[in-house]
Amino acid sequence: MKNIVILISGGGSNMAAIVRTAQAQNWAKQFNAQVSAVISNKADAKGLAFAKEHGIDTAVIDHKAFADQPQPREAFDAALMKEIDQHQPHLVVLAGFMRILTPGFVAHYEGRLINIHPSLLPAFPGLHTHERAIKAGCKFAGATVHRVTAELDHGEILAQAVVPVLPGDTADTLAARVLTQEHLIYPKAVADLLDGGFKDEVQQR
Ligand code: GRF
Repeated sequence: MKNIVILISGGGSNMAAIVRTAQAQNWAKQFNAQVSAVISNKADAKGLAFAKEHGIDTAVIDHKAFADQPQPREAFDAALMKEIDQHQPHLVVLAGFMRILTPGFVAHYEGRLINIHPSLLPAFPGLHTHERAIKAGCKFAGATVHRVTAELDHGEILAQAVVPVLPGDTADTLAARVLTQEHLIYPKAVADLLDGGFKDEVQQR
């Protein structure tokens, strides 16, 4: 079985979209694949309850527990890797996982680590993407699924979706519009990777 491990920090709506698509499209039969674990760095991440309800293993590795260590990031990432590797993952999917990962972590999962970022990369890497897109006067915004490299929000672009920025948009209204597209492109990008290839595609709605 190709195991998918999803990392979250919060609501987990992208994770839920992937789990629902995996069930609806029967990825077990189609790709011999399953979402085998959802791991969070926050115990109160809402998405954990959804994962449990769907019979998926969950775990919490609290990054704050490593704050006293000489190298807290490395120590946290080592603990996270240990947890992830129990599932022998084919893919590690970052879905609203709000931690910067160490180069060692990224190298360990090279070629099987992906992320979704709520902007049209390479524009607006980092935080507050929607606010920045509105301030810059962008007419379009969107989301990007990309392979993860040691550089934040870089790496090969696997899928993008575009939405208009509408007059009167706030960061929240734009984020909600982008998120509906994230829920479509992320499961599709995962399925494309499980399918063994990747169709180069720009979705525009
Ligand atoms: C999404 O907008 C994602 O692109 C960003 O964080 C948000 C997570 O939302 N990295 P959710 O936890 O999947 O609901």
